[in-house]
Amino acid sequence: MAFSLTQLIEERQADQYDLHMRYISPHMARVQQIIGFDKIYTRGQGAYLWDEDGTRYLDLLAGYSVFNLGRGHPVVRQAMIEFLSLDRPTLVKMDCPLLAGLLAEQLVKRMPPGLDAIFFASSGADAVDTAVKFARCATRRPRVLYLDHSFHGLTLGTLSLNGGDAFRKGFSPLIPDTMAVTMNDLDGLERELRKGNVAAFIVEPIQGKGVYIPEKSYLPEAQRLCRKHGALFICDEVQVGLGRAGRFLCCEHWNLEPDMVTIAKSLGGGYVPVSAVIMRREINNKVFGTLKRAQVHSTTFGQNDMGMAAGLATLAVMDQEQIVERSAAVGTELLARLAALKQRHEIIADVRGRGLIVGIEFRPPGALALRAAWTAIEAAEKGLFTQLVVMSLMRDHHIMTQVGGPGVNIIKLLPPLIIGDEEVEAIISAFEAVLEETRNIRGKVWATSAELIQQAISA
Ligand SMILES: Cc1ncc(COP(=O)(O)O)c(C=O)c1O
Repeated sequence: MAFSLTQLIEERQADQYDLHMRYISPHMARVQQIIGFDKIYTRGQGAYLWDEDGTRYLDLLAGYSVFNLGRGHPVVRQAMIEFLSLDRPTLVKMDCPLLAGLLAEQLVKRMPPGLDAIFFASSGADAVDTAVKFARCATRRPRVLYLDHSFHGLTLGTLSLNGGDAFRKGFSPLIPDTMAVTMNDLDGLERELRKGNVAAFIVEPIQGKGVYIPEKSYLPEAQRLCRKHGALFICDEVQVGLGRAGRFLCCEHWNLEPDMVTIAKSLGGGYVPVSAVIMRREINNKVFGTLKRAQVHSTTFGQNDMGMAAGLATLAVMDQEQIVERSAAVGTELLARLAALKQRHEIIADVRGRGLIVGIEFRPPGALALRAAWTAIEAAEKGLFTQLVVMSLMRDHHIMTQVGGPGVNIIKLLPPLIIGDEEVEAIISAFEAVLEETRNIRGKVWATSAELIQQAISA
């Protein structure tokens, strides 16, 4: 019998949550139900998703920054169709594939000075693991420093660089010789670097969990200290790179010249998982330096042609549609409008971001009844107030957002970089309405708090 994907989807679409309950993660499926995200989406285009009833949702998760170009970008889509129709031999392995070479050439053109050697992988964590391995090999030193609150992935290696307890719990022992340092504490950083055994210091130039932005001089000084003490400086641009923060790489905001950069997510245009480590040639030489070591590090799907084609198409679209400039301009407008909301709503403690990575931090309200409600819900679980806001934005305004990290009252917006005035208006008017509702203890926002508290306690 012929296989028909369309028929299979039509027949089984309604089973999707049951299947996950049964075979994948019942807890994740249950979370979606509790927070009202358990939709059945049947179409995605640009910045929007549509469910089976035809309701449209503005997607400010963007696949956690996979869909920087929006869903189904016609140029990338066409490149995928063209690739399939060409029947090119891919993953030959004992060759040097053209498309990987071409994508490497395009990426090097867009890098800070000195980064001209590339290793391709598939996921963000894969790229970070590679960078850490290479740093140890190139420096012959064991230790890796990372920042509090950092997130670099969830493989064993990258979990060992995770700056919070929530993800680490239950998985120890992690890899040895990694250590967290505090953002903006240069003395603390130098104290560790001075020991002479640090291979690398890895940073997200803007941290994804919580959208924390370092003080102006921190990253340039940290880079200088790494150089002074012989450690490599790695910028993890997996989330904030590729235009997200209003520059091609976020580290350009500080004119940084890292020794290695990691990118992933939207490099595959929303179609194929692709990641890359871009490094100084001498690092690459130290890892692969002899013919015998030519395969000392590799990953099976690393240079797969479909991913490389998606990457080439993605970079072409970014140039043609001036995606980076657009992200900077629309991001500036969105941040300004959200900052104006902060003036009117005391519950907003801070609005921060660059380009189109935005964090909105909440604080306890002043009025007594509201403060009591806040205290009750936060006692059940930290960050639960923000979950109420996320749920309201989804339920009442069909806008998908997320709590910006474990246990924080920060809402995070990661829109596709193609949004414009219409989406900015929709975001601002939805926030305005939801924030207004938070002032009313009997209003829609607080209405679900008892149920959430109950769920948190029973969990
Ligand atoms: C900064 C950063 N590094 C690494 C990763 C891990 O990427 P992946 O989930 O593709 O492994 C992420 C994922 O969100 C990330 O934000």
